[in-house]
Amino acid sequence: LAIAASALHSPLVVSTCLSVLASICTYNAIPLVSEVFIKHGRFGKDLLKEDRPIIPESMGVVVGVVYFISMFLFIPVPFISWFNGVREEGLDFPHHKFAQFLGGLLALFSMLFLGFADDVLDIRWRVKIWFPLIASLPLLMVYAVTYGGTDVLIPLPLRGFFSDKILHLGIFYYGYMAALTIFATNAVNIVAGINGIEGGQTIIIAISLAINDMVQILTNPARRDAHMISLYFLLPFIGTTFGYLKHNWYPARAFGGDTFTYFAGMIFAVVGILGNFSKTVLLFMIPQIFNFVYSCPQLFHLVDCPRHRMPKINPKTSLIHPSTFDISKSKPLGKLIIQIFKTLGLTHITIDPETKRPLATNFTLINLVLVKFGPMSEAKTTLTVIIIQALSSCLAFTIRYLLVHLVYNR
Ligand code: UD1
Ligand code: MG
Repeated sequence: LAIAASALHSPLVVSTCLSVLASICTYNAIPLVSEVFIKHGRFGKDLLKEDRPIIPESMGVVVGVVYFISMFLFIPVPFISWFNGVREEGLDFPHHKFAQFLGGLLALFSMLFLGFADDVLDIRWRVKIWFPLIASLPLLMVYAVTYGGTDVLIPLPLRGFFSDKILHLGIFYYGYMAALTIFATNAVNIVAGINGIEGGQTIIIAISLAINDMVQILTNPARRDAHMISLYFLLPFIGTTFGYLKHNWYPARAFGGDTFTYFAGMIFAVVGILGNFSKTVLLFMIPQIFNFVYSCPQLFHLVDCPRHRMPKINPKTSLIHPSTFDISKSKPLGKLIIQIFKTLGLTHITIDPETKRPLATNFTLINLVLVKFGPMSEAKTTLTVIIIQALSSCLAFTIRYLLVHLVYNR
């Protein structure tokens, strides 16, 4: 009983309970606000259904609001021991720890706002791309005063090129962390367009990061506090995302919108920076890195980039097929890339039966899954991508805990 009573005082237990409550609240709140959202024009058409039903969008707002309420209620909990006596011993309030919470929440709040503004106003890509970078500045200041480390250990195979085994990155390390915020937000947003994929991919990444935190907490006492704060940010996110995913799963009754994708992406950047494991975060985003690099020819307009690159539905079979773009609109370098991708089996080329123009399948992970496995139902496609995400997490754990010894000889 004493153990149970002391466990109840543990911030982690409080955080877990709040996260379960947050999950239930999100699940119940979404249907309550759906009609209001539709009434005010916040809806999208479900493009992979024959009748293209209207679905309430920007439900990331509900996820975000419930998340912030849970976090605000939780904030005093890790500091209770200070209020309960440590203060009398004359110790200073741990301002740096409190600043970690505030810096993280500020960055997340900015992204929730940007995402919602983008859903409503359709902000131009070249403008909105810089916002996560600016939103991360307070967070980087918190990093500077809590850890401040900017050195990286050089992997064994590369040691011959350097005089020291440590590389001092200095300001470039801050540049990397800022770039991580831009990458994470946008990379999550472009693995999108089929029911359940936004919530599905993020829940796997978040659970993987939480497992990694627990392993570190149990095995590495020196890193305990850093991974604890990461867990405090991740648990309510996992809770709220579960609540949302139940509505976003096929057939979707709610879309998260860019509000959800930007918010989710920022969660990963925030925990990586606050927990001082921003390189490990990228390990758990292998499918997003692949999808981003694969998308680059389209994102940088070397080849045509249609407004929507999600798969298309065949109304006769109700299966979804890879969507395509017109090869003839490509720049010379783009045409070369298409040839290379074709040789590597990364795109499938067909001829449009009406216009007789050559078409290539869009360069996204979701389309590639359909190129490789053939047309599938929408739900099965989502499940396949989520399984790929989960397998990538297994690979990430293998690299992080087994191969790392070979590469760093630690
Ligand atoms: C990103 C992708 C785009 C993809 C879109 C789908 C890039 C560069 N951009 O754009 O290719 O088509 O996401 O979200 O890769 N929708 C569905 N079913 C779903 C989810 C969304 O039909 O399960 C549709 C709805 O009409 C919804 C719209 O997609 O309104 C949302 O698109 P939005 O998030 O605005 O697209 P982007 O993020 O700009
Ligand atoms: Mg989007």
